Order: sequence, then C-alpha cells, then structure tokens
Amino acid sequence: MSASVSALPVWGELAAHRSELASTSMRELFGRDPRRGTALAIEHDGVVLDYSKNVITDRTLSLLMRLARDRGLVAGIDAMFGGARINTTEDRAVLHTVLRTPAGGSVLLDGVDVAGSVHQVLDRMSDLADAIRSGRWRGATGRPIRTVVNIGIGGSDLGPAMAYHALREFAHAAVEARFVSNVDGHDIDRVLRGLEPETTLFIVSSKTFTTIETLTNARTARRWLVESLGAEAVGKHFVAVSTNGREVAGFGIDPANMFEFWDWVGGRYSLPSAIGLSLMIVIGPERFREFLAGAHSMDRHFRAAPLEKNLPVLLGLLGIWHRNFCGAQAFAVLPYDQRLALLPAYLQQLDMESNGKSVDRYGRAVGVDTAPILWGAPGTNGQHAFFQMLHQGTTLVPSDFIGVLEPAHTHREHHDLLMANLFAQTRALAFGEPDGSGERPPHRAFPGDRPSNTILVPRLSPYTLGQLLALYEHKVFVQGWIWGVNSFDQWGVELGKKLATGLRDDLESDRTPAWDSSTNALMMRYRRVRRAGTAGRDATTTDEMI
Ligand code: F6P
Repeated sequence: MSASVSALPVWGELAAHRSELASTSMRELFGRDPRRGTALAIEHDGVVLDYSKNVITDRTLSLLMRLARDRGLVAGIDAMFGGARINTTEDRAVLHTVLRTPAGGSVLLDGVDVAGSVHQVLDRMSDLADAIRSGRWRGATGRPIRTVVNIGIGGSDLGPAMAYHALREFAHAAVEARFVSNVDGHDIDRVLRGLEPETTLFIVSSKTFTTIETLTNARTARRWLVESLGAEAVGKHFVAVSTNGREVAGFGIDPANMFEFWDWVGGRYSLPSAIGLSLMIVIGPERFREFLAGAHSMDRHFRAAPLEKNLPVLLGLLGIWHRNFCGAQAFAVLPYDQRLALLPAYLQQLDMESNGKSVDRYGRAVGVDTAPILWGAPGTNGQHAFFQMLHQGTTLVPSDFIGVLEPAHTHREHHDLLMANLFAQTRALAFGEPDGSGERPPHRAFPGDRPSNTILVPRLSPYTLGQLLALYEHKVFVQGWIWGVNSFDQWGVELGKKLATGLRDDLESDRTPAWDSSTNALMMRYRRVRRAGTAGRDATTTDEMI
C-alpha cells in the first residue's frame, strides 16, 4: 500500500476535478438532469439513501470508485470479515460482524469457532433476560427486578443508551433501564434517585474492567445496595459484561453472572455483543435478535454489493470527497426523530475515536485530513439552534438527514410537519434562494450548495436500528481504510487517563504540585476548597483563593 493515499494518481485527479467543479452549483446539476433525484438514490432492504444533493457528477463518482479500488477497499473488506489482524497496533482481529451472524454459521479465528461462542453467550443473555422479564429472577428479598442499571462508559454505555432511547416502545411494561456513565457523582445520584435496592439489578459493563469511571460508579452502586440489603445481596443484584474474567471476579461478581465478549470486538462496536444486555432485558431476546438481523443484513450488503451500489461505500466516499477535496472540517448527523436523539453522540464516538488519527497503520504520518468533527441533534430542535450556521455560516458542514417514514404515534399532523421540515431543510441547503430581484439584503441571502444526504427507513424498529448501526460502522471502515489509519485502536485517550491518575494523587496530598504553572494554580484552588469542605458552595469568587 502506498505511503499516503495522497500519493495515488487518482488523489491528484480528484483534486483537479474539484477545482473544475468549483463554480458548479447544485441548481445547475439538477437543471442538467431532471432525473438526478432518483438517479442518485439507492435502496437496500428498505433503507433509502438519496445522495443527489451533493456537488458531484458522474465523473466525481467514478473517480471516487477508482480511489476505493486503487486503495484495495475490497481486499480490506475481505480482510476484516475474514478475521485478519487488521487492528495492527493491538494485534487483533476485527470481527464485530460475527456478533450478528445467524445461529448455525461458523467463523474460525485461530482454529476456534467464534460464531459458536457468540451464540452461547447470546443464549445465556436470553436466559437472564427471560428470567428478569418473567419475574423468575428475584432480588435478595424475593421481589422481582424492575430496573436494570447499566454502569459503563464510552462504547459500554453509548450504544445501549442510544438503542434503549430509540426502542422505548418495545420495552417491557414493568422493567426499565437506566444508564450511568460519568464519574461525576451527580450522574449516579441522578440514576439512583427513586430506585429501590430490592428491585434493582446493576450490569457493570466494561470491556477491560479497568476503566476508572465505571469501577468508581460500580463501587458506589455496591455500597448503596449493601447499605440496605447487606453484602450477601450482591450476587442477586450485580452482573458483569466484560472480556476480563479475572478483574470481574476480583470485583466480587460471581463468574457465573459474567457475560463474556472478546478482544476482537472494539468497545465502540460492541452494542450487538453482551454489552447490549440491558437493551435485551428491556426489549426482550426476540427483539434483540431482530436488531442483530438488521445489522447482519447490512453486513451482507456491504460485503457483496458492487461498490457503486453499496450504501456504506457511498457514504464513506462522499465523506472523503467533502473532507479531503472540499475542505469540510465538520459533519452533522441530523435524525428527524426524537427517539434517535442519542444517535449523534453514539456516532461521534464511532467516527471520531475510530478515525481521529494522524498516523497510519504503519506508524507513518497519514498525510491527509482524517475524521471530521461529528456532531448533531434531532430535527426540528437543531433548526432552532445551529442551523443558522449550516445555512449561512462560513464553514462547510455536510450532513446526513435521517428520516423515519412511519411513526409509532398517531399524531399525523406532527409527523407531516416533521417530515416537511426535513425535506425543506435539505432543499434549502442545496439550492438556497436565488437573489432574483437583486434587492434582497445580504443578510437574507441563502447561498445554497451545502451538501447533504438523506437516509430514510420505513419505521424505527430493532431491525432498522441494526441496519443503521451497521451502515455507519462500515462507512467508518471505508474511510479508515482509504485514509490508511487503524480504525480499531484509540491510543489517543491514554495520556489523559495517565495524567488524571497522577493529578488525583496530588489532589489528595499536601505536596506542592509540580506540573505547569496553570495546572498547579488550578489544582491549588481546588485543594483549598476541598480542604475547607465547601466544594461547589460558597467559594467560587474570592480573590484570596489564588
Ligand atoms: O475512551 C476509551 C475507551 O477505551 C473506549 O474506547 C471504550 O469504549 C471506553 O473507554 C470504555 O472502555 P471499557 O469498556 O473497557 O470500560
């Protein structure tokens, strides 16, 4: 593989092509081809992608396809699905797709059938979920479980929390889920408020089982439980999801109550693994398997569809076009569905932790821009917050609008309005409003030519959520592969963790801190308040504190 993707001749051709297109407008492109709106749209298994509202031509697409071919994307896809150790810095295979392989399939990794192990764990998860849902699993005092609290962070939180939020209408009538992630004590206070220890089950979810936030929250939760029910109650109220049996046992959770996953599942790719246990308990094993089936459908499509008709490939390549050739530094995800409110946060980790890298798989400078800043909010709320900038700001922000054709409510008027807004926004971004009379003041001008994709799903269900999840996972894969980065490690989070450990020790001691003058002064301010025992109350403004 060439040192940097930018060394490929097609990269230069794309750059030259972009200059040629500099003065081409979307209005012109749509004018040239009245069928553009349907020609540049594809559908797979009910998921529709309309990518016509981008400043691209047939030549753009054919160059992007050549880029994918010259960069060996098909071989990359085969390598991932085939279990090659493409997570080079951790020497691991990347096989989250096996998590949704139907029962009976077999995928060998180092001679071991990993698909078989996946289904064994799924069966155990189903047993627990059924026991809780039916009331067979009782807490220490004999009462059924009414709340499952997932304790985890990052990939061990965002996925289940996002999916639970999205699939609330499939939830068991009497069993709810809550999620605590932040080490900020306000978070666990909020989550525990109103809960009864006797009817609460904690799921400590951590791939490594060494994550300080999760362990701190888990210890606080255990204290809360033990204070009411005694230490012997822990076995009935704590289960774990992890790859690290030793640490789980060390924490005091019975290994029989541990649900395993594997080092070939990245944290941010782990929702379809046992990390989804809280979701499974609430929506039930059958629905959870529908979610897996949706993801599997997208996996098969990604693996088999020609690049030109491949949804994740198209999304990935369009993102590269905007990021590397049009100068876009950001990317917005705009679900027009309140139930998908947490999707932007989930995709933020997926994308930015996977591809926010400046070194390639071989340790060389990557040489081109990689992951954009990803953010977003549900429509129509975002329209009343940051859409001003999308329409008239100086920064190009390509976006994905996600719409759900059929709502789960009966308020037709609401849904019509919601969808009308989605369609209106993509149209306004693309075409703006031409200054026909020449009399419109500059602040009322809408320049247009702001790219967006529209993704539509028939309804929001476990199946379609699985499709969306896999769609974005594979989009991220496409981009990472083309940029040449390892999308499956996250070394960039290590320094902060290491420093926090050292700084925390300093906060507790009387030693004069010996960091930099800014950090020292900030810590001393905190230490004085901490010592006075008045943190957060009456010590915020006094000058003498410095
Ligand atoms: O932030 C780094 C990270 O390792 C993420 O990749 C991961 O999802 C999160 O922390 C939680 O890790 P764990 O599941 O091991 O607790």
